[in-house]
Amino acid sequence: MRSIATVFSLSLAGLVFGSSRPDYRAVEPSSSDWLHLLPDGPVKRQFILDCTGCHQFDSRMALRFGRPRTEGEWKEAVQRMLGFAGPESGFPVISAAQHPDSTAAWLSRALGDRKPDPRDPPSDPRITEFLFPAAQDLPHDVAVDDDGRVVVTGMFTGAMYLLEPQSGRFTRVEIPVEQANPRAVEIDRDGRWWVVLGNPQQVARYDGVGWTTFNVGVYAHSVALDSSGGAWVNGHFTRQPELLVSIDRQGNVRQVPLPDHPVLAGRPGGPVPYELRTGPDGRLWMSELQGNRMIVHDPATGHSKVFELPTPASGPRRFDVGPDGVVWIPAYGAGSLVRLDPGTGQIREIELPVRDAAPYVARVDGTGGVWIGTGAADALFRYDPVADSFETIPLPTRGAVVRHMAIDPRSGDVWLAYGESPGKAPARVARFRR
Ligand code: HEC
Repeated sequence: MRSIATVFSLSLAGLVFGSSRPDYRAVEPSSSDWLHLLPDGPVKRQFILDCTGCHQFDSRMALRFGRPRTEGEWKEAVQRMLGFAGPESGFPVISAAQHPDSTAAWLSRALGDRKPDPRDPPSDPRITEFLFPAAQDLPHDVAVDDDGRVVVTGMFTGAMYLLEPQSGRFTRVEIPVEQANPRAVEIDRDGRWWVVLGNPQQVARYDGVGWTTFNVGVYAHSVALDSSGGAWVNGHFTRQPELLVSIDRQGNVRQVPLPDHPVLAGRPGGPVPYELRTGPDGRLWMSELQGNRMIVHDPATGHSKVFELPTPASGPRRFDVGPDGVVWIPAYGAGSLVRLDPGTGQIREIELPVRDAAPYVARVDGTGGVWIGTGAADALFRYDPVADSFETIPLPTRGAVVRHMAIDPRSGDVWLAYGESPGKAPARVARFRR
């Protein structure tokens, strides 16, 4: 069994993909273009969830030496992926639905020798990309501080980076933990950074001078702040029970179990607790990437409530809660934006302008618009709930897996972190400015 640390060091070593490796600026189909070739339905939604979360499904994956991958080669690749990220591995993000034989047979039958037409990654003058200091890093999450500086987690280099947008200069901020593996970051009202350290199973808080660390006892995925100066994280691979962990103002750590998943609690392969956000009423919302549920926990009463998404394998990923309490969920597998009204429990699925975009993260801006970063389209969308319409902003890079976004409330600038692993493009963050 290989741990994700091994997987990530493989990425760091800089992999060679034979002659089929596409250049990130080359005229190439997007990952969405490739995914269009696969027949729609639950098998495809599950495949998108299982197989496009680290790297895109692109020419590097679909082709070998410029020709279609054979069924045997697919089988071998799926076997390897299951080895380091399958249900029984140390980083179980892939569900129990993938098998070397059946996945390989489905892929080679579906693709045949078809290839999407190559096309230029278009550009938009409103997007500016900033190259990360370490090209092989994975800038995972972004946050904007009160001075408009951008705080980024360097997941592979184990450090934090502070970008001064005016000069484009990054300053490296060390974390005093071996192989810190920083993933998520949020900034509280006092300007302190709350950083999730995955493998060390810690949360680290930085006050601009020094760090305080908290052992949370789980590999956490996300961090959400509460109104009393504390924070919450969720256990990415906790299953029975799925866990939230609270760190209160005094630094006390307490685990809170959530309602079991009816199917996935009892066996490996899910439900994969994912995003965690605080709503305007102080309740905590969590998504299950593989479990297809949204859970809301009320710290005041200790009660949790579950909402199941109507489309199986929707893949609720990094959602946001608007100031009106409405929850906006990017459905990664289903390729839609889901609006959940917590008052009525009503759910509406909204189609995106690009099919198979693999919407990854949503963030609500100051005017109620919903920004959506995608894993497969190399594009950013903004949904206007009043007009019920989308704006599409193409990103200039192939491999722009937008894992996270933060909106600067003062300027309205939208910051994006691209995090493909293994990546086609040198690591970067991007800004959208009107
Ligand atoms: C946890 C992250 C992760 C997930 C999930 C993942 N991969 Fe990968 N994939 C990688 C990494 C890292 C590499 C490069 C290292 C390697 O090939 O072993 C890679 C490489 C590949 C390659 C190229 C291999 C080659 O021989 O050139 C293919 C094809 C591939 N993945 C397909 C898949 C499929 C299909 C799935 C779903 C079953 C999947 N990946 C899920 C991380 C992942």
